[in-house]
Amino acid sequence: MDIRQEIALVTGANRGIGHSFVTELRRRGVTKVYAAARRPETVPEMPGVVPLRLDVTDDASVTRAAAVADDTTLLVNNAGVSTFARLTDGAEEDIRREMETNFFGTLRMVRAFAPVLSAHGGGAVLNVLSVMAWMAYEHSNSYGASKAAAWALTNGIRYELADQGTQVTALAMASVDTDMMAAIEDEKADPDVIARAALDGLEAGSLEVLADGRTARWKSRLGEDPALLYPQLAAPAAARP
Ligand SMILES: NC(=O)c1ccc[n+]([C@@H]2O[C@H](COP(=O)([O-])OP(=O)(O)OC[C@H]3O[C@@H](n4cnc5c(N)ncnc54)[C@H](OP(=O)(O)O)[C@@H]3O)[C@@H](O)[C@H]2O)c1
Repeated sequence: MDIRQEIALVTGANRGIGHSFVTELRRRGVTKVYAAARRPETVPEMPGVVPLRLDVTDDASVTRAAAVADDTTLLVNNAGVSTFARLTDGAEEDIRREMETNFFGTLRMVRAFAPVLSAHGGGAVLNVLSVMAWMAYEHSNSYGASKAAAWALTNGIRYELADQGTQVTALAMASVDTDMMAAIEDEKADPDVIARAALDGLEAGSLEVLADGRTARWKSRLGEDPALLYPQLAAPAAARP
């Protein structure tokens, strides 16, 4: 794919990785980028960047965006939330908000924009997932469930949109240095580096971009027995009388 020919729409484009996507798309010569945000007035001004009001959890908002941005050929589903809820005792409201944004928001966008992409020869969808789709730990398992659902969605729409010639690429990564992770101590990637890796993969026709070693390792171990993946959990069970 020659990305310079595309007209892109990035969700959650006002900050974080979404803003990095907008900047990198422009740097690569994309002439028009719709920077979609719940509050378009928060989108940094840039030539070639068209702020667009969009809440991915709102049907009417998504329908309106698809009518306005009806020349889109590359849809970047980046908008997401992380509430750090635990599955067993986190607030159900938080768990639902993650599913509503990360899974249903992505689904809503794909359903609204699939005809737009088809009308322009197929185009491409880039879905932003997470290593958390493939691993569990003490926190964020609710977020992980929403990203695992979004991964299945990504694989499913790739199959369903193949006939209309739409390339569907998944991006997954571990921690990135954005507001989402501000309260968490971890090794964090630069969001600009992540956006560059994703667009390199997209341009090369990759179906999945694993942006760092941690993500690649967890993905590669999916076939292993959970007892090997989580040895620390085997001890209490084995100790039971
Ligand atoms: N940061 C990480 O470590 C990390 C790692 C793996 C994957 N990811 C994924 O990368 C993507 C971007 O995350 P980030 O780190 O850049 O997070 P961020 O800095 O918190 O930004 C999240 C973006 O999503 C937007 N958003 C949230 N709910 C929305 C909705 N209902 N409709 C439209 N936009 C909405 C936010 O808009 P507002 O400004 O209006 O809130 C904001 O622009 C997410 O999908 C996230 O799950 C992040």
